[in-house]
Amino acid sequence: MENFNFYAPTSIHFGKGEIKELTKIISEIGKNVLLVYGGGSIKVNGIYDEVYQLLPDSDFTITELAGVEPNPRIDTVRKGAELCHEHDIDVVLAVGGGSTIDCSKAIAAAYYYEGDPWDFTQDRSLVQKALPLVTVLTMAATGSEMNMGSVLTNPETNEKLSTGGVAMIPRASILDPEYTYTVSKWQTAAGSADITSHLLESYFSQNTEAVVQDRMAEGIMKTVIKYAPIALNKPDDYEARSNLMWSSSLALNGLTRAGKKGTWSCHAIEHELSAYYDITHGIGLAIITPRWMLHVLNDQTVTKFVEYAENVWGIDSNGKDAFDVAKEGIQALYDAFVSWEIPMTLPEVGIDKEKIRLMSEKAVEHSTLATTAYVPLTADDVEEILLNCF
Ligand code: NZQ
Ligand code: ZN
Repeated sequence: MENFNFYAPTSIHFGKGEIKELTKIISEIGKNVLLVYGGGSIKVNGIYDEVYQLLPDSDFTITELAGVEPNPRIDTVRKGAELCHEHDIDVVLAVGGGSTIDCSKAIAAAYYYEGDPWDFTQDRSLVQKALPLVTVLTMAATGSEMNMGSVLTNPETNEKLSTGGVAMIPRASILDPEYTYTVSKWQTAAGSADITSHLLESYFSQNTEAVVQDRMAEGIMKTVIKYAPIALNKPDDYEARSNLMWSSSLALNGLTRAGKKGTWSCHAIEHELSAYYDITHGIGLAIITPRWMLHVLNDQTVTKFVEYAENVWGIDSNGKDAFDVAKEGIQALYDAFVSWEIPMTLPEVGIDKEKIRLMSEKAVEHSTLATTAYVPLTADDVEEILLNCF
């Protein structure tokens, strides 16, 4: 196991009605609030009104930044930072999914940075200080509610890049599973695939001795496999939604990644698909992941794939060829995504072959895929993986 620092200081308020804590959480920080949200789902499901009831005019001044895009854009961050200065903001309140939270993190850090916030994606050390951030999570997926990451898109350059820093970690996050009842089937499936991918990206690493991380990751993967279909069939199933929501946070708060080495593979590739075609992150991951698995399956990796097949999917390996067992595990994941009604080819999400080579080169250029991935990947490898998604 590698040395690590595990730091997860976000105060989590989990469960039905926990929004009631909002008044206390915000008043301990300040009065001037920047309320950040997306395309309006919070107005349809009532969370917006609840926030205003809990932060009344008499005690708080709320400035709004609405319309954060899925795959949040750098221009929205710039706009948010300006609002913070204009309105002397004390605290950023993000109400939404990963996109709203990621955008809010960048706004909070941009407030203290004199240059352009896109710089954060070029150099993480520029994220030094940020306004306090509080989040109200409305969908289970990214883990942004409990981590230091932020993924931003620059549509002018077709780049989707991540940044992050300790200063961006939310101070408190309210996680009410009932808020996720209105999440569409598409986003529920995408979010569940994203959680699964966060676990797999660290599970498949070159370390063989980080056992406690892998047993936890397997447990969370099995939880998602059990509850995603239930939430898809019955959106207001509390048991399913609460287990998915807590899985989202635990899958990417550092718990299963600590002590593991290497860069992530499928995320680096998916971010290029989203950068060029603005597709849903979790759907892109679901399409790529089984193809990536088949590509990296070899004599060195097969033991880990057998472990995955046995421990996550309960596949009996007795008397069977290791490669057959590994492939059964990969097929089981593919079949699960199909059963969640995820379209499993790139043409189905509007991607043709025109930019495959370009995206493959960019994936390698924007990451350390070629040197530090579980199995290092060249642009040719990425191209082969993507062409297998047709
Ligand atoms: O914009 P609104 O109206 O809120 O609608 C959103 C959006 O259309 C909707 N939605 C969210 N909660 C809802 C709801 N609709 C109905 N009821 C609710 N309760 O869902 C749509 C997608 O929302 P979004 O925030 O984009 O989804 P997600 O949470 O999957 O976030 C995706 C973004 O996070 C990045 C991704 O790359 C992508 O940009 N990631 C962030 C990470 C991090 N910070 O650690 C790691 C991840 O790997 C990922 O890269
Ligand atoms: Zn992800």
